[in-house]
Amino acid sequence: MKPIKNIAASDIPNIEVAVVPSTSRWASAVKDAAEQCGAVFVAFDEVTPATLAERLVVLDLSKSVSASSPGPRAISISANQSLDCFDVIHPNEVQFRLKRSLSNLIEMEKLKARVAQEQATVSTLNDIGLTLSAITERTELLDAILTHSRQVLSADGGTIYLRDGDELIFEAAQNDSVEITMQIEHVRLPIEDSSLAGFVAGRNTILNIDDIYNIPEAMPYRPNFTFDKASGYRTRSMLLVPMTDRANKVLGVLAFVNRKPSPGVPLIDFSLCQPFSKQSSDLARSIASQAAVALENYRLYQNIRNLFDSFITAAVTVIESRDPSTAGHSQRVSDLTVALAKECDGSPEFEGIKFSGDQLEELRYASILHDFGKVGVREEVLLKANKLHPWELERVEWRFRLAAIQAELEHLRRGTPLDERMSQLERDLNLVRQMNTPRYRFTERDVEALAAISGRWLLSEKGEPVIEQAEIQRLCIPYGSLDHDERLEIQRHVEHTYQFLKVIPWTSNLKNVPHLAYAHHEKLDGSGYPRGLVNSEIPFGAKLMTISDIFDALTAGDRPYKASMPIAKAVSILREEAEMGRLDRDAVELFVAKKVWTSIGMV
Ligand SMILES: [Fe+2]
Ligand SMILES: [Fe+2]
Repeated sequence: MKPIKNIAASDIPNIEVAVVPSTSRWASAVKDAAEQCGAVFVAFDEVTPATLAERLVVLDLSKSVSASSPGPRAISISANQSLDCFDVIHPNEVQFRLKRSLSNLIEMEKLKARVAQEQATVSTLNDIGLTLSAITERTELLDAILTHSRQVLSADGGTIYLRDGDELIFEAAQNDSVEITMQIEHVRLPIEDSSLAGFVAGRNTILNIDDIYNIPEAMPYRPNFTFDKASGYRTRSMLLVPMTDRANKVLGVLAFVNRKPSPGVPLIDFSLCQPFSKQSSDLARSIASQAAVALENYRLYQNIRNLFDSFITAAVTVIESRDPSTAGHSQRVSDLTVALAKECDGSPEFEGIKFSGDQLEELRYASILHDFGKVGVREEVLLKANKLHPWELERVEWRFRLAAIQAELEHLRRGTPLDERMSQLERDLNLVRQMNTPRYRFTERDVEALAAISGRWLLSEKGEPVIEQAEIQRLCIPYGSLDHDERLEIQRHVEHTYQFLKVIPWTSNLKNVPHLAYAHHEKLDGSGYPRGLVNSEIPFGAKLMTISDIFDALTAGDRPYKASMPIAKAVSILREEAEMGRLDRDAVELFVAKKVWTSIGMV
């Protein structure tokens, strides 16, 4: 957190006036004039640059021939009227002019100090505003509001109440001198005059109390001493300011206790507490406005974020509804990936790896959208359960029926034996049906038998085989249900995802979302797709996403082309992949050791 200058504690310093030399015959006149103007008198025998820099000087040059210029913070007593300084008083005129001249100089000095202080106030408020506007996490924001405002106001303790309808909710508290152990968060307080904060919120006014143990009976509010009693703390001065939005509506209350000499230093002696000044109270009001703006911005940010999240959820639901067997996959991959990333923090194997809140957000969005590109994949490919599409199998079956009719006709015409031919046909069709299923582990003999079918049964009209070469090739797909082109089409979903995510104007803290999602099918040894990246080229978050994606694909409910797998089997596949150098071995082991899947309710 950027340090912010403490300005309230530094009231305008006392102005010192020196007479040089101290033996000047006008020394007592200067002393009287300085004290009448509210300045402190000091005497010096010699003028040094330091003397001049720190205080105003009345320089008695009546017996000197010095021609040096004392500068704008000095009044010279000299016959030489050409000296460069605030004023030159002729020795004969000292008694008439000294007091007025010194008064003017002191006033000028006070004005300069006031301007400098106002500038510092504006700059501090700007700093606070900038600091608060950069925070997107609620607890951090409330902490920052209290930390900065307490520092600037030199307050030992501070509390934030936020408004919820007709109540104030106690949201956060800080204290430099005692540890706050009481469970006071989320305590509710009605907005009414009986409490200090309720009074401030209800009336939209400031309360500046020098000692809360001495509040006049006539006042409607009474302080709550529970904290003092429980902690041994002694609350003395208190400043409460309403936080109002642009429409002057009260969003909450900032309360500060015990102004002290030095901000950030614990109070050893409660008698050192000071009342909050009028200046503190003005400053607190400005800080409260900054805090209110920051809180409003935070709420707007949250609303936009919720809106965006709802849109994403809706979009992902639509994509997943095309393939009901993958319902919930994106959310589960997101939950698993974020949980695994959190496990990496503090794990000895991943020393130096620390996911910030923004990076976890990035990973969450990338994971939930990683398969969004499946919107560009045809449904018939996405849902393909067997090696032949249903209409392709139906076509083959019709040809088999035709072959059966042909056999019967031949039997009638030529008396060729029928039974053997019909049972052969049935065996052949059964083989086709078996080979069509990805779960059937076919043998070399099956492949040979399949090839023999096309030669065995020719449909007489055109002499075409019951099963075509292209269909045989498809039935011989060794793994899964997709042929080469269909597999490429599915794999292109990664490219579609990237193209889709790339056009979203992500904020700078989420700029890596497209790149993370783009790498979710890459493998460390370069065998992944679509770019064949290797270990060093794959973002670490994407490596975690790949593990979660594979795990969920294996263990999720039955899909048309494969059955769901027990966790133990999925774990051994992940380990095999890691052994083969495709997945990050440490991340897989961490995933297994921490049973990350329990974070999504799997046991
Ligand atoms: Fe994917
Ligand atoms: Fe996936």
